[in-house]
Amino acid sequence: MGICLSGGRFGRIHCEKGVVVNLRSSAAKILVIDDDEIACEFLQEALSSEGYRVKYFTSARRALEEESLSSYDLLISDIKMPGMDGIAFLREVKKNWPEMPVILVTAFGTLETTMEALRIGAWDYISKPFSPDAIRKLVKKVLDMRQLHAHQKEKRGEKSDTPQFIGSSAVMVEFYKQIARVADSDVSILIEGESGTGKELAARSLHLLSERRDRPFIPVHCGAIPETLLESELFGYEKGAFTGADKSHTGLLEAAQGGTIFLDEITEMSPNLQGKLLRFMQNGEIRRLGDTKPRQVTVRVVAAANKNVDEEVKKGSFRADLLYRFVVRLHIPPLREHKEDLPLLIESLLKKMGYAHIRVSDEAMEMLMAYDWPGNVRELQNVLKQSILLSPFGIIQPENLPDRIRRKQQDALPLPPLEMAEREQILNCLNATQWNISRAAQLLDIDRKTLKSKMVKYGLVRDTFSGS
Ligand SMILES: Nc1ncnc2c1ncn2[C@@H]1O[C@H](COP(=O)(O)OP(=O)(O)OP(=O)(O)O)[C@@H](O)[C@H]1O
Ligand SMILES: [Mg+2]
Repeated sequence: MGICLSGGRFGRIHCEKGVVVNLRSSAAKILVIDDDEIACEFLQEALSSEGYRVKYFTSARRALEEESLSSYDLLISDIKMPGMDGIAFLREVKKNWPEMPVILVTAFGTLETTMEALRIGAWDYISKPFSPDAIRKLVKKVLDMRQLHAHQKEKRGEKSDTPQFIGSSAVMVEFYKQIARVADSDVSILIEGESGTGKELAARSLHLLSERRDRPFIPVHCGAIPETLLESELFGYEKGAFTGADKSHTGLLEAAQGGTIFLDEITEMSPNLQGKLLRFMQNGEIRRLGDTKPRQVTVRVVAAANKNVDEEVKKGSFRADLLYRFVVRLHIPPLREHKEDLPLLIESLLKKMGYAHIRVSDEAMEMLMAYDWPGNVRELQNVLKQSILLSPFGIIQPENLPDRIRRKQQDALPLPPLEMAEREQILNCLNATQWNISRAAQLLDIDRKTLKSKMVKYGLVRDTFSGS
C-alpha cells in the first residue's frame, strides 16, 4: 500500500502517522490495464510516486467484470492485448461511463488505430516507449481537463463554484484539451465563439487551471462601457487628471496584478484604446491618466469576441498588430455542431437548476435536436427555464416548448398536410406502445415493414432522443 512519497509539485503535503497524503488532487484513482505485467508495474510505480492511487489488471475483460470502474478518475489502457483489446475496452467504457477519461498506450506504427481511438473518445494517447515523466505529465493534464467536467462532482453530490463545461462530444473534448494545454502558460489568448457558447466560462477555466488561480480574475465588458470610462477603468488615474478626479484610482489592469484580466467583446474597443492595450501587451507597462511615470504590471490577458475578428481587421476596425499579440486563438464550437451533447447538457442543466426530476418527452427532445440553437447553451438554459414553468406534470412536452423551436422542426420537414398528419399519427402510436414496432404497426393496421420504412421517411428514430 504505497501512499504518496514525494511532494514538490503539490506544494502542501500533510503528514499523519507517517502517511503522506496529497491534499490537492485528493489522490486521484487510476486504473491501468496492460497484458504485460512489467508495463503495469512500471506505470504503477511512476504514478504512485506522485500520490495517485493506482491499481492494475492484465486483462481488460477481468477489469470490467471485477472492478467498479466508475470509482476511478482515469483509466490507462494498452491498445494491443489478447482477448479484449484496448479499442474494444474503450468502446465498453464509453458506452457505460461516457465521461470517463481514458488514455491509450499505443505502439509504434499504429497511427490508424490511434486515430480510431481518438474518434471513439479516448482523451489522449501516449506512444511506447515513454519515460515516467512523460506519463506523469500526461496524467496531470488529463486530470486537469477532467476538472472541467461537472459529471463526477455532481455524482458525489458536491456543490462547487468552479465553472464546469458539460459535453463529451469529440469537438468539445478537443476544446478542453486545448484549454488544458495553454492554461498554464503566460501567453495571451483570444477566445472566439458565437454568443452563449461559453466564452466567459472558458476564460474562467483558463484562470482556474493556471498557477494564477489564487490571484484575481477580473472580467471587463468592453462593449458595455463608454470609451473614456473604459480607459480610466482599465488604466486608472491620478488625482486631478480630469475634472471630478478628486482622488487617485487604481485601474483594473493594476488590480489584476498576478492574475487574469478578461476583456470581453474586445472588438468593441475604440482604436485609441486598442493602441494603449497594445503598448501594455508589448511591455507590461501601464500609465495612469495624469501620471508621468509608467508602472509595471504582470497580468495575463484573455479576450473574447463573438464577431469574426479577421473580418474586423479587414474592415479596419480592429488593429492587426493587436490581434497578433494574441498568440493563441481558441474557437468554441457552436452548439449546432455538437448536438450529440444535448441530452447530457439538458440533464445536467436541469439538475443544476434544481429540477433533476423533470423529464423531456421523446417528441420534445426530437424538436430540441432539430433546432439550430443560434443562442447556443445560453439559449438552451433559457428555453429549459421557460419550459419547466409550463410543464405541469414534470415532463416537458412539445407544447411546452417555445414556438420557434416547434416551428423549426416543421420547417425542417416541409411535409404536405396529409403526410404531416400521418407522421403525427405514427409518432402517437409509437409513443403509446413505448416504441414497440410490432404493436404500433398493429394499432396502425399496417405491417411492420411498412411502418419501418415510414419511420425512416419521417425521420422517427428513437434511440437518438430517448436520452435515458
Ligand atoms: N458547455 C457548457 N456547459 C455548461 N454550461 C455552459 C456551457 N457553455 C455555456 N454554458 C453556460 O451558458 C451560459 C453562457 O455562457 P457564457 O456567458 O460563458 O457564454 P459567452 O460565450 O460568454 O456568451 P456571450 O457571447 O453571450 O457573452 C453560462 O451560464 C454558462 O455557464
Ligand atoms: Mg460572455
